Amino acid sequence: MTAATTHEPDLLAAFEETIARHDRIEPRDWVPERYRATLVRQIAQHAHSEIIGMQPEGGWISRAPSLRRKAVLLAKVQDEAGHGLYLYGACETLGVTREELVERLLDGRQKYSSIFNYPALSYADVGTIGWLVDGAAICNQVPLCRTSYGPYGRAMVRICKEESFHQRQGFELLATMMGGTEEQRAMVQESVDRFWWPALMMFGPPDADSPNTAQSMAWGIKRDTNDELRQKFVDMTVPQARALGVTLPDPELRWNEERGHHDFGEPDWAELAAVIRGEGPCNAQRIAHRRRVWEDGAWVREAAGAYAARPAPEVAP
Ligand code: 3HC
Repeated sequence: MTAATTHEPDLLAAFEETIARHDRIEPRDWVPERYRATLVRQIAQHAHSEIIGMQPEGGWISRAPSLRRKAVLLAKVQDEAGHGLYLYGACETLGVTREELVERLLDGRQKYSSIFNYPALSYADVGTIGWLVDGAAICNQVPLCRTSYGPYGRAMVRICKEESFHQRQGFELLATMMGGTEEQRAMVQESVDRFWWPALMMFGPPDADSPNTAQSMAWGIKRDTNDELRQKFVDMTVPQARALGVTLPDPELRWNEERGHHDFGEPDWAELAAVIRGEGPCNAQRIAHRRRVWEDGAWVREAAGAYAARPAPEVAP
């Protein structure tokens, strides 16, 4: 990222032409500071979400009911760690270090996705998180493969391939439970009842209340608005719920032939705002765990840094 120079009007014109052509902005290109700041905010939040998102499901790895389920869940949680690393790497091309980003998360200046403020209370939640949360993530992230900032879009391509596996393993787990006992079916329905509305909130506030969406759309950072992606997710998920045999907990949910989409009720925006403020049910636990592992891992970072900084070995003449 080059700093502004005396030729800023020309640089701004070149930036805007690149965006207008739907070409990629790359790390060496000049960009307006607000474009860079918006990317740092969104990519960092995305990266934090991937790492914090390991917590709710990670707690079920040791309690998975079979070796197969344990192996699948282990693979998924490991994938999320990799997604975080890709995204922190993309964010670092914007001139900010991973250490700075984690400190901003830990001191509350940066956030992570609201969805990970909710506890995973039953084993069915492992399936519901895969099906609904990773399903919502796919709706949100596939368009981000076309985002205007090159490193972010390229990270998304790899992440979306793995999210598809995450969503399918969740759906398959729920389908297996729905073919099981009455207690298992009830466990799945109770899980879906808890996660449906928080999954809709993942897409952010309504467009009318979103301070960032219009500008992010103009810069090609976002390719769809929050409401467009939420609608896409609802339309995608309703037939899947029918196939599973679960009921989505929204009495206003119905197909609207005229619109060609499903009508659905309003999420509790006050709840989303409270969660975003850090008042979510699990926020203190999630941040305390993230802080503990960040501090526990300090010696590894120091050792790796010392090793990388070691003087090059003398080469015999
Ligand atoms: N959780 C937490 N904060 C949220 C939020 C959510 N679900 N939705 C919005 N916010 C915050 C925004 O960060 C913004 O706050 P800020 O300006 O102080 O940063 C404020 O609420 C207003 O929201 P906007 O809609 O104006 O903000 P954005 O334009 O950034 O849109 C977003 C929000 C749709 C989440 C967008 O940032 C985005 O698409 N991010 C990339 C995708 C992402 O982060 N997904 C997180 C899910 S994690 C995941 O997918 C992991 C997978 O493995 C399950």
